[in-house]
Amino acid sequence: MTYDFLVIGSGISGLNFALDAAEHGTVAIVTKKELMESNSNYAQGGIAAVLDSHDSFDAHVADTLTAGCHINDLEAVTLTVTHAPAQIQKLIDIGVGFSRKKEILSLTQEGGHSARRIAHAHDATGKEIERALIFHVRQHQNIHIFESHLAVDLLMQDGVCKGAEVLHTEKKEIELFRAKATILASGGAGQVFERNCNPSVATGDGIAMAARAGAEIRDMEFIQFHPTALALEGKPTFLLSETIRGEGAILVNAKGERFMESQHELKELAPRDIVARAIYAEMKHGPVYLDITHRESAYIKARFPYIYEQLWWYGIKMDKDRIPVAPAAHYTCGGVHTNLKGETNIPGLFAFGEVAHTGVHGANRLASNSLLECMVFSEQTVPTAVAYVQDVEHVNHVEIDSRNMVYKKTDIHAIKKEIQKIMWEHVGIIRHENELKKTLQKLKSIQTTLEKLQKEGKNEMLVETKNLADVAILITKAAIERKESIGCHFIAD
Ligand code: SIN
Repeated sequence: MTYDFLVIGSGISGLNFALDAAEHGTVAIVTKKELMESNSNYAQGGIAAVLDSHDSFDAHVADTLTAGCHINDLEAVTLTVTHAPAQIQKLIDIGVGFSRKKEILSLTQEGGHSARRIAHAHDATGKEIERALIFHVRQHQNIHIFESHLAVDLLMQDGVCKGAEVLHTEKKEIELFRAKATILASGGAGQVFERNCNPSVATGDGIAMAARAGAEIRDMEFIQFHPTALALEGKPTFLLSETIRGEGAILVNAKGERFMESQHELKELAPRDIVARAIYAEMKHGPVYLDITHRESAYIKARFPYIYEQLWWYGIKMDKDRIPVAPAAHYTCGGVHTNLKGETNIPGLFAFGEVAHTGVHGANRLASNSLLECMVFSEQTVPTAVAYVQDVEHVNHVEIDSRNMVYKKTDIHAIKKEIQKIMWEHVGIIRHENELKKTLQKLKSIQTTLEKLQKEGKNEMLVETKNLADVAILITKAAIERKESIGCHFIAD
């Protein structure tokens, strides 16, 4: 299979790129489940943009830098912020139904923002954007969609990326996708942690593949823990959007005290790392709850229909009950390093979205800047990738050793659980240098075991679990190297 552009991943950034690139050549999108199944699809909050006359680009830039502890790349932040209003318009033009009040876009609030600047589609913004993009992608004759296709490794020849080795998870066969340009849009790695609010697909495949191929990976220590995921025995770690706090919800401890008042001037809307650590500390004394019961029932049901319904299934009435919450791994701020045009250090390999590190987020991502970054950087990459494709005369027939293409079933569920558990316990919200070092040794031994198993044959669980181990090692090493606490990286000693 030979294409101009091979897009790995079907979140918002991959689909947005595919639509534009398809005007210039053939595009294959490979995605390991259905087209709709991505981290973007579960983004509840919204997409940040300066859309109000009282707001300014300077304020959005300043908030992004404050959340990121000023180690962000200012050029990347400015590019993202100044392109935001045009991206919202682009989404409206393709049919995204943002929530409105009397025709005017309704803007909500999230932690770390000094203004209401989050455009949203009720409480399921990612799903709505995915829906609109998929509608257009499915109609484009230059776009070929391959669902149930898990990218296993990049096809490399003389240091140049020429496509990917891909496992067809239904046929249980490995196929080679050759392409002039390969685009990583495969999302983050929240599944590395036992307690996470990401879908099961978020196993860091793109970061692991790129690292194995020699790509530069940066800032992996900055894993963002979302402060409020459901904490109910036996129920999923369901995300409870920060916009609930943006619309007035408070956090209370087991005694009913509103503890964020004493922690930060922005109270519940302080940057996420601060709220997450405050909850974590309170949980030593008992459960912590999110409480929005003071708002009208009709308002809650209309503003948060998706969350209301999910909680109802879990036995909680959001308009009457306090919701037990605890932090959970949410977003990978680091990743495959790119410049402002989506180029990595590997010719033929481009990246954007959560898999990438553009410098926008610094040490901690500002809420609702990620869908925005997806839109801006996938668009920025189009001219660069098109020019690259036009320079490549033909796609080389890179072959791989047929022994690497064997499918073999292995049950490594316990190994996956072990990685997730040790990462949550020792490389989570509060880190200790000694524990990090011990964890790294343990992870390396797990990685060796998985490498041996892969020599006998591959399957989806083995590929994903090996990626989890590789990414866990990248996170742990980066956490050991970063000596000071900053943003989402907190060293207790
Ligand atoms: C949320 O809705 O709280 C998540 C939004 C984000 O992570 O940007």
